[in-house]
Amino acid sequence: MDELIREFRTRFPHSGPVQVAWAPGRVNLLGEHTDYNQGFVFPMAIDAGIQIAGALNGTEKVNLYSLDYAAAESFLLEDIVPSQNNPWANYIKGVYVQLQKLGLGPRGADLAITGSVPQGAGLSSSAALEVAAALLLDALHGWKLESWDLIKLAQRAENEFVGVACGIMDQFASALGQSDHALFLDCRSLEYEAVPLPLAGRGYAVAVANSGVRRGLAGSEYNTRRQQCEEAVRLLQVELPGIGSLRDVGPEHLPLVEALPAPLARRARHVVTENARVLQGVAALKAGNLEEFGRLVTASHESLRDDYEVSCPELDLLVELAMQVPGVLGSRMTGAGFGGCTIALVPEPSLPEFEEHVCAAYQRRTGLQAEVYAFRPAPGACLREAADLQS
Ligand code: GLA
Repeated sequence: MDELIREFRTRFPHSGPVQVAWAPGRVNLLGEHTDYNQGFVFPMAIDAGIQIAGALNGTEKVNLYSLDYAAAESFLLEDIVPSQNNPWANYIKGVYVQLQKLGLGPRGADLAITGSVPQGAGLSSSAALEVAAALLLDALHGWKLESWDLIKLAQRAENEFVGVACGIMDQFASALGQSDHALFLDCRSLEYEAVPLPLAGRGYAVAVANSGVRRGLAGSEYNTRRQQCEEAVRLLQVELPGIGSLRDVGPEHLPLVEALPAPLARRARHVVTENARVLQGVAALKAGNLEEFGRLVTASHESLRDDYEVSCPELDLLVELAMQVPGVLGSRMTGAGFGGCTIALVPEPSLPEFEEHVCAAYQRRTGLQAEVYAFRPAPGACLREAADLQS
């Protein structure tokens, strides 16, 4: 925080009163590729994220500085176009465009950005950046937008400006996370419930293993999956005219789903079974049945690997290695897939053994270095006022 403010003052010496916004990344425990199908998700915000210090500058120009990339980018409010050199800047530009579309007339600002969430690891550093930027700009202008308005605006920034047709999960988790809870969200009604994670009490931690790989396909394959789901809905509507999304297709309709042409049958089967797993998983947690929750986590991975086909050999290997550690209850890829991270439910005393075994065997078999983190379920985005900062 101190370094961020120092850097802000050095880069932008003439700026007015500074405010700081923080937004966390997330891991998703269960419910993958269900959000854009109006289904159920169960993410938690993590204690790593993005921090932005900023002030209005009285001009029509926005100046950005990234501490982590040691890179600057400026743009005029009347001419917001994607940056080729600084892709990170596009998330903030996207937020500006959405604020303009809402007719709010955002003004020029100086913003300095730093992050503690590993980039490009599927831990939603981009959603954190969007949410932090939206929250900060809201505070600087005094609009007092509602959380859900900020969440949806951040999602649209990514959909329209960055061009990834993502769902609402990441921005939601980043904005509304709660410490020691995961969030069960119904992506159709947007009703959600914070569910206590009885992990620490039972001596378990959520270990996150970063594969260190990120396939360039992530964006295009993601959008393809989304289209395939829409196509599956169109075909299923012949027999099930009342459905509007795969959310409306229950396990009782699996025979119809399985009659779809390949690969739509597999894609839709994943979504239908995954929604059921979220409901079962939340019920299992509430009943204190961590073993059942772990079993569902691993089943989710198998479905993402075989039916949705968004895993990759490195993620499969991390899951296989995690499950070799005695006491591990379940493991799966988390986020969009094609690289990024896995999660595992690990007995706390076994964390050192987990890290050692997974990293050593992963390196032997792939030549790559995995990283293991033990994140805590953390509170969502918040502001820190200038007064706190200048003292
Ligand atoms: C990415 C998207 C989310 C969600 C996940 C897959 O993280 O941003 O909206 O679709 O992939 O569950």
